[in-house]
Amino acid sequence: MNAFDELARLLGERIGMAIDPRRRASIEARLAGLMADCGYSDSEEFVRRLRSGLDPALMNRTVDAMVTCETLFFRDRAPFEAMRGVVLPKLKETRRDFRNLRIWSAACATGQEPYSIAMVIDDMARDFAGWRVDIVASDISQSALAAARAGVYSQFEVQRGLPTAMLLRYFRKDAAGWRVAEHLQAAIDFRHVNLVSEFGALGCFDVVLCRNVLMYMDVERRRDILRRISAQLAPDGYLMLGATETIVGLTDDFVAAPGFAGLFTHRPQKRGTMRLVANS
Ligand SMILES: C[S@@+](CC[C@H](N)C(=O)[O-])C[C@H]1O[C@@H](n2cnc3c(N)ncnc32)[C@H](O)[C@@H]1O
Repeated sequence: MNAFDELARLLGERIGMAIDPRRRASIEARLAGLMADCGYSDSEEFVRRLRSGLDPALMNRTVDAMVTCETLFFRDRAPFEAMRGVVLPKLKETRRDFRNLRIWSAACATGQEPYSIAMVIDDMARDFAGWRVDIVASDISQSALAAARAGVYSQFEVQRGLPTAMLLRYFRKDAAGWRVAEHLQAAIDFRHVNLVSEFGALGCFDVVLCRNVLMYMDVERRRDILRRISAQLAPDGYLMLGATETIVGLTDDFVAAPGFAGLFTHRPQKRGTMRLVANS
């Protein structure tokens, strides 16, 4: 097996990445750049080092270089309209005695998705006065997570999807760029989580966004991750996938919620058989 195939196999095992053969040339180019940056000239030696598990920093750099972190504020708009118009009002009603909500952005990339959620909730602050709302945001990429935690965006990034009123209300410009408001930053618990590994310790959620990440994985991985998300999602909770992603052939646990592409609830038959997992 050559070094590229060996790297592809390793990334498949560790992070579930399925490399589309049509993207081989671009992945090879990324590999060449990464090896040069890390001081390797022999690709077989590079992959052997990765596989040895002795160099976690090299593995992190490789993951950072290979994953696609493309994202934007309020991506696809509809999920955030659904959140404001359907999901949060419904949960406000059903959780009124507990006054507690947990939301997970399961592949948050550089943070635009969880900050978009935080802005929606902040905008509805009056509805949730006295509530505890936890937003957990996770990703496999350490560099994406560092950018998400920092919460500083370029002019180009804030121009993609973020309404001007939101920009002026929740960001301030300094020498580094557009800095997100501290109270939004403080509202998000950023975690390093590999969706391929066990994530039960995160506890139970009312809403899970797992958007535009399963599309880079093979069918078996998608099935496994959706099955485990289903177990962590409240019986009456909501799952959000990317607008072009489907559950067809992957899971019978969910049904599409009418009116919003990418919004799913547990199938009614499934709800009756579910037991909530205790939060940590
Ligand atoms: C295209 S971005 C999606 C970002 C955001 N959810 C959105 O829809 O705009 C895909 C993200 O999935 C992350 N990712 C890929 N494999 C992962 C894994 N096994 N576990 C956790 N995150 C992963 C990547 O690091 C990347 O940040």
